[in-house]
Amino acid sequence: MTVAARVAGLRTSPIRSIALGAPEGAVSLALGEPGWPVPEVARTALAAWAQESTTCAYGPNEGLPELVSAVAARHGVGAPEVMVTAGSQAALYAVFQAHVPAGSRVLVPDPGFVAYPTLATLAGAHATAYRLGAGGALDPEAVTALLTEHDDVSLVVLNHPGNPTGGGATAQALAAVAQACERRGVVLVSDEVYRELHRGTPQPSLRAVTTAGLVLESVSKAWAAPGLRVGWAVGPAALLGPARLVHNAMTTAPARPSQVAAAALLRASATVLEHSRAEVQRRWALLDGGPWPAGVAAGGFYLWAPLPGWAGEDDTAFVCRVRDEAGVVLVPGSAFGDAGRGHVRVSLGGDPEQLTEGLARLAPWWEGPC
Ligand SMILES: Cc1ncc(COP(=O)(O)O)c(C=O)c1O
Repeated sequence: MTVAARVAGLRTSPIRSIALGAPEGAVSLALGEPGWPVPEVARTALAAWAQESTTCAYGPNEGLPELVSAVAARHGVGAPEVMVTAGSQAALYAVFQAHVPAGSRVLVPDPGFVAYPTLATLAGAHATAYRLGAGGALDPEAVTALLTEHDDVSLVVLNHPGNPTGGGATAQALAAVAQACERRGVVLVSDEVYRELHRGTPQPSLRAVTTAGLVLESVSKAWAAPGLRVGWAVGPAALLGPARLVHNAMTTAPARPSQVAAAALLRASATVLEHSRAEVQRRWALLDGGPWPAGVAAGGFYLWAPLPGWAGEDDTAFVCRVRDEAGVVLVPGSAFGDAGRGHVRVSLGGDPEQLTEGLARLAPWWEGPC
């Protein structure tokens, strides 16, 4: 058996592999998904679809018209500027395959979402990390310096609020990066899956400063429905065209019932998003009074914490000890890139009781080894 070279170096996500070794009764604060109930509108839409439908046909490649319209209305664009996908992950894959030539370079945040370098590798390209500013905020100079240094960059990915840091981006920072990318003909992708989960101060979308880049979102985080696997990309039709062909070849279209439920969620955005922000805020409040540094995240649901002083820099050793001895599963910071070394990511997204229990088990470890 020959495994394609572009796949041979891929490994199971460290987030999943750490969880696999967890002892019985361990509390997982590792997975990045909402633990509050899927909104009633989605359940009602799914039930109504099941009641009324006698067939379950493929959807059109471009997505169900009601979902495309809901996304278009949200972003103030026309249908040609919307690509409905199987989660934002499939949008990322399709965009990378369509716009990242083999041998080119992709700029990714460090620390950043684990999928970006993998997607670059799958496109036959390589990822170069750009550093983030204080609190994980976008530092435009870090990106523009790399664009000046390298003339083989095909694509830049931004992510704000970021996974894992929760760092935000100002409109000025986004505009500076957008202008630099436009000048060089580099595709700019803004992954905004956590943008609606801000902590009081709304985060600007890339679309507020340019219509030239691609904005990615999904119902997975802020609309509390990751299992639906529905996301979208919004941007110039000329950029979306080739990516649509990749997405069609990958999956034809997202599941029809999922798209019906996602459209219902989007139509109810005002109440759904307010509720989700309250759920997340409730979880951030559980950290109050704990021994970890106060979270500075602009949004999202991750505590990004430096290791306690006694633990040194080896985040993987710390996470394994805490998993095996305290029964709490975290993600080592180095899983997100070299700049993540010496940190851990604690997901606050899950069930508040589990989170309370996990934090109680964790707290003594911030004082010293238990
Ligand atoms: C930053 C970021 N982007 C994209 C995704 C993919 O999410 P989905 O495919 O569910 O939209 C995730 C999931 O954790 C994420 O953290």
